[in-house]
Amino acid sequence: MTDTTQQAGKKPDVVVTRRVPQPILDQMAEAATLRLWEEDRPIPRETLLGWLPGCAGLYCLLTDRIDGELLDAAGGSLRVVSQMAVGYDNVDVEACTARGIPLGNTPGVLTETTADLAIALLLATARRLVEAAEFVKAGQWVTWRPMELTGRDLYGSTVGIVGLGRIGKAVALRLRGFGCRLLYTQPEPDPEAANLGAGYVDFETLLRSSDFVTVHTPLNEETRGLIGAEALALMKREAILINTSRGPVVDQAALVEALRAGQIAAAGLDVTDPEPIPLDDPLLSLPNVVVLPHIGSASVATRTRMAQMAADNLLAGLRGERLPNTVNPEVYNQREA
Ligand code: GLV
Repeated sequence: MTDTTQQAGKKPDVVVTRRVPQPILDQMAEAATLRLWEEDRPIPRETLLGWLPGCAGLYCLLTDRIDGELLDAAGGSLRVVSQMAVGYDNVDVEACTARGIPLGNTPGVLTETTADLAIALLLATARRLVEAAEFVKAGQWVTWRPMELTGRDLYGSTVGIVGLGRIGKAVALRLRGFGCRLLYTQPEPDPEAANLGAGYVDFETLLRSSDFVTVHTPLNEETRGLIGAEALALMKREAILINTSRGPVVDQAALVEALRAGQIAAAGLDVTDPEPIPLDDPLLSLPNVVVLPHIGSASVATRTRMAQMAADNLLAGLRGERLPNTVNPEVYNQREA
């Protein structure tokens, strides 16, 4: 691809839809002129559409909707879209591929941090940590009572993992230390599962047999609404649902009904639909629900690595090189063909 801007000695323009750590911005600014959205909220669509014409790169977040209209707004100059996240359900990948634009993401670096958070949610819901902390602050801690705030053991339980990918496996590894019996489900069994002691079962068996169901699938047309009324009805009444993947994998209205009806015992969600969850959402009024603001990968080290990895993808794309992590590597075959 001919880079006329670079030939003319002018740096290519890049839109960055949110501030990331300054050294990473500085590094990108050495190679590109940044149009940086400074506010700590999503860039309005109209602004992004207005900024893109003539840009060679787009550095975006999972809060930005990237579709054909947006890609076309760049006007043919766009050489790379780099998302600072592993998930990319907010991006129309086919639209990128159809325009020959590689899409970068950040797999791997957030696996352990997100797995830690899944364990935190398992324990928080099982042992009612949020309720218990609120109980203390409300002055309700009068004395030690034998059955007060009793929860469930994660230790020794059966945990069903929906999606034994990188994060699912990291969760499985941690749960072995808790003496859990592990089940997993996904379209095909994984040969590595035996090393983790995880047994492959169909979705229904997993739902019926698990004390905890933890969801680690990407969001796509197969997984949207996967945990709906039918699935929830199959779960044990004492079961707890954990979701650290994407909100729409769980049908939230059905979840509210299941929790209200006592069909399942509790839920721990790091992701909701929509995000942020509206304050009047019934889920927030249920004592047996812990909702977190999508902080699965939110350790300083991991978010910094993600921002760097997205910058590395962007810079490679600007140079016309293969991105270190490309969601749609088929764009390179198109170019070579
Ligand atoms: C966060 O949810 C990510 O996809 O990286």
